Amino acid sequence: MDIKSKLEELQAKFEEAIKNVSTSADLMNLKSSYLGKRGSLNDVLSKMKDMTPQERQVVGPAAQKVKEFLNKEITQTSSKIERAEIETKLAKNRIDFSYTDKVRHDRLTSGGLHPVTQVRREIEDIFLSMGFEVLDGPHIEDEFHNFEALNIPKNHPARDMQDTFWLEGAKHLLRTHTSSVQVHGMKERSAPFRFIAPGKVFRAERTDASHEMVFHQLEGMLVDKDVSISNLIYFMKTVLKEIFKKDVEVRLRPGFFPFVEPGFELDIRCLICSGKGCSVCKKVGWVELLPCGMIHPNVLKAGGINPDEYNGFAFGLGLDRLVMMRYAIDDIRHIHGSDLRFLEQFKKY
Ligand code: PHE
Repeated sequence: MDIKSKLEELQAKFEEAIKNVSTSADLMNLKSSYLGKRGSLNDVLSKMKDMTPQERQVVGPAAQKVKEFLNKEITQTSSKIERAEIETKLAKNRIDFSYTDKVRHDRLTSGGLHPVTQVRREIEDIFLSMGFEVLDGPHIEDEFHNFEALNIPKNHPARDMQDTFWLEGAKHLLRTHTSSVQVHGMKERSAPFRFIAPGKVFRAERTDASHEMVFHQLEGMLVDKDVSISNLIYFMKTVLKEIFKKDVEVRLRPGFFPFVEPGFELDIRCLICSGKGCSVCKKVGWVELLPCGMIHPNVLKAGGINPDEYNGFAFGLGLDRLVMMRYAIDDIRHIHGSDLRFLEQFKKY
C-alpha cells in the first residue's frame, strides 16, 4: 500500500473511532494514539525517510492536512464533551424554583421587604433630606476601628460593656456597634460633614425579648463648627417625630460611652404599653432607643480632625427596637426568626 492510501486509511479509522468517544479521558487517549510521539501518524511519517524528494513533496502536504484535520476534530469534540459534562453537573444540582402547589397553597406568591429594611430605607430618606450621606462599613473589624480609635483602649473596662465575638488570634472581631464606621467616615472626608451608617452588629448576648446576638444599629455623625447639645437634642427630636409621624415623649439621661463627652441615653415612652410597663420596656415604661453625645476630642483626633476647630455629635439608633416600637412587636427574636407568618404581615406596608 502506498503511503497516501495509508494516510487516508488512518484518517478514516480516526473518524470512526472519535464517534465513540464520550469522555475527556477517552479523547486524550485517542489523541495520543494518533498524534502522540509513538502514534499512528508518526508511524506513517517515519517511512518518509526512505522516499525520494519528489515523493516527499506530495506526501508531506498530505500528511500535514491529515494532521490538521485530526487536531480540528479533537478540539471540536473536546468542547462538545466539556459542555455535556457541565450540563450533566447542572442537571444533578437542579433546584426547582417553580410555582408548585405547595407555594400556591401557602400563598407565597410574592415577596416583601423585611420590616427592618423598610424602616431603614425610610430613615435613610429622612437623613438624606437633611444633607447626610449614607455609609456602609465592614462587619469584620479590627480592634483599632471598633475600640481604640473610639477612645476605648486595651484593658479599658468599657470593653466589657460589649460582649464581643473575637475571631481567632483576637486581632479581629465582629463589630459590636456601627460606631466603627465613624472612624472610616472621618478618615475618608474632611470637616464639615454629616453621615449615617446603618447595619448589622454582633454581640455575644444572652437573648431575651429585647436582646439578640445579631441586631441592627444606625450610626449618625455630624461634624461642624460650634455644634451644641441643644442642636443635638433638637435634631434627635425632629428625627423621631419624622419616624413615628407624631410627637413622642422623650427623656434624656446621662449615659457613659467613651467616645462621647457628655454622653446621653435618649429614651422614648414605650409605645407598646404606652408607658404602663411591658416585657419590652422591662416594666419601666421607657425604652432606650438613642444613645448619643458630643464627640470626644480624642475620637476627632483619631479621625484626623482638629478638635480645636471642629466639634459635633454622634448617635446610635437601635433599628430593631425602633421597628418593634413602630409595629408593636413584643419580642426581638421574631425579627430574625424567619417565620413567614410573622414576615408576611409586613408585605402590605
Ligand atoms: N455605639 C454605642 C452602642 O452601641 C451607641 C452610641 C453611638 C453611643 C454613638 C453614643 C454615640 O452602645
